Amino acid sequence: MKNFFVTTPIYYVNASPHLGHAYTTIVADVLARYHRLLGEETFFLTGTDEHGDKIVQAAAGNNQSPQAFVDEVSARFRNLWPVLGVAHDRFVRTTDLQHVRTVQAFLQRVYDRGDIYFGEFGGHYCYGCERFYTEKELNDDGLCPQHLTKPEFICEKNYFFRMSKYLPWLAEHIEKNPSFIRPERYRNEVLAMLESGALEDLCISRPKSRLSWGIELPFDADYVCYVWFDALINYISALGWPDGEDFGRFWPGEHLVAKDILKPHAVFWPAMLKSAGLPLFTHLDVHGYWLVRDAKMSKSLGNVIDPGEICRRFGTDAFRYFLLREMHFGADAGFSEDALVVRINADLANDLGNLFSRVLSMAAKYCDSRVPSPHVLEDDDRSVAELCATVMHNFAQTFAAVQFSQGLESLWELVRALNKYVDAQAPWALHKKGDTERLSTVLHVLLTAMRKVALCLWPVMPATAQTMLEQLGQSAEEGFLRFVDFSVEAETFSGLEPGASLAVTSNLFPRIEVKKEERKKNSAGNKERGKEAKAVDDAKVPAVPAKAQADFDHFSALDVRVGTVLTAGKHPQADRILRLEIDFGEGTPRQILSGIAAWYAPEDLVGRQVCAVLNFAPRKIRGLVSEGMVLTAGDDTCQKILTVDSVPNGSSVN
Ligand code: MSP
Repeated sequence: MKNFFVTTPIYYVNASPHLGHAYTTIVADVLARYHRLLGEETFFLTGTDEHGDKIVQAAAGNNQSPQAFVDEVSARFRNLWPVLGVAHDRFVRTTDLQHVRTVQAFLQRVYDRGDIYFGEFGGHYCYGCERFYTEKELNDDGLCPQHLTKPEFICEKNYFFRMSKYLPWLAEHIEKNPSFIRPERYRNEVLAMLESGALEDLCISRPKSRLSWGIELPFDADYVCYVWFDALINYISALGWPDGEDFGRFWPGEHLVAKDILKPHAVFWPAMLKSAGLPLFTHLDVHGYWLVRDAKMSKSLGNVIDPGEICRRFGTDAFRYFLLREMHFGADAGFSEDALVVRINADLANDLGNLFSRVLSMAAKYCDSRVPSPHVLEDDDRSVAELCATVMHNFAQTFAAVQFSQGLESLWELVRALNKYVDAQAPWALHKKGDTERLSTVLHVLLTAMRKVALCLWPVMPATAQTMLEQLGQSAEEGFLRFVDFSVEAETFSGLEPGASLAVTSNLFPRIEVKKEERKKNSAGNKERGKEAKAVDDAKVPAVPAKAQADFDHFSALDVRVGTVLTAGKHPQADRILRLEIDFGEGTPRQILSGIAAWYAPEDLVGRQVCAVLNFAPRKIRGLVSEGMVLTAGDDTCQKILTVDSVPNGSSVN
C-alpha cells in the first residue's frame, strides 16, 4: 500500500490564527483526505513553533513565563482545527521533549559529519526575522527585504552550518526534478537565488547570554539552536526520528507553505537533510497570500480575518470550498465577505444545491424515493457518463498537482451539465407521457453522476459530501472510505444500488439573502466605525485656542522620523520616565528618554513604531542622555504615543 505524508508549516505562537494560517492547514487537510480517497495510508502533520526572541518578548508583554504563554497560544491553534473541519494525525510542538531530542540528535549528526563549525561573524540581524542577512540579501536600501527595516549589525561568535557546500548539488536536484518545488514560478525563484551567489553558510546558534528560550546545542551548553533550524526539524521529530517507526513508514513527505517562507524550506531544509544523510521531501507546494482590501493581513491595518468566526457565520464547508475555489494555488487572492456570499449563492446554492433538491424531489414523486434501475442508455446519457469520467480524471490530476481551483472548476462543469440534462430530458414530461423506462434511466443517470460529484467533494467539503451520500442512500464517511476506490470510480459509471432509499428532500445550501443596505453597511463598516469614534472623540476634546500662525520653515526644520522600539525600561532615577532604545535605521539605535511611564508598561512598547524629533541637541535627564523626543498626544491626564502603519525605520514624518 502507498503512503502519503503531508505537512503544514508549524505556526508561530506569538500570533492568533488567521485566514492565512487556516488556508495552508485546510489545503493540507484536503490533500490528506484526497489521498485517503485514493486508498493510501495517510499521515497529516501540523503544529506550533514555540522558541525564539519573539516568544520571549510576547510572553513578557503578557506578564507570563514563556512556557505558560506557549501552552496557552498553542492550544488556541489546536482548538481551531476541528472548527475548520481539519483532521490532522499529529500536532507537534517544538517544546515537546521528543522534538528537543530529535533536534539534538540531528545537530550532533551534522556536527559529527564536519558540517558545523565555530566562528566569529559580523552580520545584519533582523529582529523581525530573527536571523542574520548577508549584505547581498538586503534590498537596495540596505533594509531587510521582509520587514523593510534596517537590520542591526551584530558581531559575535557562533556555530555555522556549511550550507554553501550543498548549494551546487541542490541546484542540480531542482533542475532534474521539475515538480520538487511548485508551482514553477517558485522553482525559478529558488534557482535564481542559488545562482545569485548571495547564499552563504547558515548561522545556527544564538549565545545563551542573548537568548535562552531555545534548544541547547548538544556540543556546547552556552548556545541554543537558531529557531528556524530547530523548527524545520519538526517534520521528522513528529515521526520520531531517529528511532521512531513512523519515520520509516511515512518519510519523505510533501510540504505546504506560503511564499514568505520559501527560502528556509527550499534551501536550508534540503541542505540540512542532505548533510544528515536523509532523503529529501517529495514536493514543496508554495501558495500566495490572502489579501484583504488589497493588502496582506496585519493587525495594524485592522484587516485580519478570523476563520473561526467566518465558519460560524457562513458554514465550515462553504468557507473551505471558497478558499480552494477562489485561490489559484501559487498566486495571491483577495478575500471579502461579498465574494464569499457570491460563491455560496452561485456555486453552492444555485448549481449544486439546486441539482440535489430538484432530482431528489422528482425521485420522491416519480419513484417513491428509491434508486430506479436503468434501461437502455441513449447518446445523451452516454455523454453524461463520459463527462463524469473526464471530470474525475481531471479532478485527480489537478488535485495531485495542487491545482485545486482548476479541479473544482472542472467539477462544476459537470454539475452545470447535470442541471442542463435535467432541463433537456424533462423527467416531468416523461412522467406525464407514462414513459417509465426512460424516466427511470434519466433519474438513474442523474443519481449516479451526483454520487460521483459527492465523492470528489469529500476532501473539500467532508460534512456536505457525507450528507450528499446519505441522501443518495449510501453509508456514512467511514464505511464509504472503506469501499471507494477512486481510480475504479472514475472508470465505471455505476455505484448506486437499485432500490436503495433516497432522501425525500434536500436543502444543502440555502441562499444567503443580503439586503442591499446591509451590504453597503458592511463594506462601509470600517469607515463608519471610524466616524463614530471620531464623533465621540470630538465631543470629548476641549476647545483649545489655536496656536499663532507659524512659518512652514519652522516645521520643516524639524527632523521627525519613525523608529522601532528595541528595548524599554524604567529610568533608574526618575519614576515617570522610560528609557527607550529605538532603531531609526541609522546602524546604531538611539537612546531616548520619554515621560510616559505613567501610561505604558515598558514591554508594551517593544516592537512598536514611534515618531520622534531627532535633531534637538542631546539633553541629559537625571544622569542619562536623551538623543531625541518621542511624540505623543494627550494632556496631563493621559499621553499616548504617535504611531504609524508600518513603514521602514528612518522614514521622515512630513
Ligand atoms: N513558524 C514559521 C514556520 C516554520 S515551519 C518549519 C511561520 N509561521 S507563521 O505562523 O508565521 O506562518 C505560517 C504560515 O501561514 C506560513 O506559510 C505563512 O506564510 C502563512 N501565512 C501567513 N499570512 C498569510 C497570508 N496572508 N496568506 C496566506 N498565507 C500566509 O512562518
